[in-house]
Amino acid sequence: MFLSAAARFSLIRLSNKKLLPSQQVQLLSNDNTVSRPLFTSVSASFAYRRAPRRALDFKGTACDLKKQSEPFVEELLTGDMSVSKRLGFIGSGQMAESLARGLIEKGMVTGSQISCSDPSPARKDLFKTFGASPYESNVDVASNSDVIFVAVKPQHVAVVLQEIRPVLKSTHTIISIAAGITLETLLSAAGSDAKVVRVMPNTPCLVGETAAAMCLGGKADVEDEKLVRLLFEAVGKIFTVDEKLLSAVTGLSGSGPAYVFMMIEALADGGVRAGLPRDISQALAAQTVLGSAKMVLETGKHPGALKDMVTSPGGTTIAGVHELEKGGIRASFINAVVAATNRADELSKL
Ligand SMILES: NC(=O)c1ccc[n+]([C@@H]2O[C@H](COP(=O)([O-])OP(=O)(O)OC[C@H]3O[C@@H](n4cnc5c(N)ncnc54)[C@H](OP(=O)(O)O)[C@@H]3O)[C@@H](O)[C@H]2O)c1
Repeated sequence: MFLSAAARFSLIRLSNKKLLPSQQVQLLSNDNTVSRPLFTSVSASFAYRRAPRRALDFKGTACDLKKQSEPFVEELLTGDMSVSKRLGFIGSGQMAESLARGLIEKGMVTGSQISCSDPSPARKDLFKTFGASPYESNVDVASNSDVIFVAVKPQHVAVVLQEIRPVLKSTHTIISIAAGITLETLLSAAGSDAKVVRVMPNTPCLVGETAAAMCLGGKADVEDEKLVRLLFEAVGKIFTVDEKLLSAVTGLSGSGPAYVFMMIEALADGGVRAGLPRDISQALAAQTVLGSAKMVLETGKHPGALKDMVTSPGGTTIAGVHELEKGGIRASFINAVVAATNRADELSKL
């Protein structure tokens, strides 16, 4: 620990919001007399990604800081964001690849810590390109891993877990990302003593910006939760929820990318209708969604307040907003999330 618990701090200042690789974060005392580099850029950018607002705005004592933002501060202060565990991917498809790539790119693990299996030689060859060790059998992957990602399609999950069950140890953390496969199913296939974590990520995992949620089952404990959080924060954001809420997560963030893709497509069509070339229109639409999402996350302001800030009396934006309201856009989004949640519930009971 770099800080005495009694010290007061008025500001954690990131030396540059973009946290370029050579930069370091500084922690200043409230009278600004102490200023010392504390963290390497890797941990700083990690911390900044996780909690930009807290990192920039926090005021209070170190004790308050610790209390309010565990485990954020603990990780911020210890600095080292790498994981020494061996990771095994059973199923080396799209999601496994994006997770493995994200973890390596963020310096969380090296390729040599990763093993994988898949029926397709092409998928195993692909994993080899970033230093992972492919195995013919799922059992070998499990035997050579501390953390096992079950990244096969939902219908294959139980079979895979039954297959590796004889080599599972009490130290294994099993992470299933399969949609709709409940903790009960995971535990009945892997054994009720297994440490299982069910994670619902979404497709932007492929570009390092997933919105995910997890719930713990069996013997999984707070250490497993911390580990899973660390791993998934290399490729986006993750929250812990009760399992009964995972269908709602599926309805919102799991299915959400499709809603947003439709929105981008429609905005782009609007731009084309108004005379813009297709490529420029689509790029403007996508960048508008990206920038607006960043404003919500980084300012912490209510989206309605941000909307009001750009809606001047009698102006262009309120004219557009009026049309959206006439089309029932809010009710449509709410209904979409509710319908997808209900469907996820139905599917998980099949
Ligand atoms: N893609 C998403 O956006 C998303 C979002 C949330 C959750 N998920 C979940 O993530 C999981 C993986 O999805 P994905 O999109 O990555 O699917 P994927 O690209 O089809 O990957 C699954 C891989 O597992 C392989 N496989 C099949 N049976 C196997 C076995 N017995 N042992 C080892 N490997 C086996 C498949 O090979 P073959 O193709 O040869 O069968 C395939 O390469 C799914 O359960 C899905 O519900 C996906």
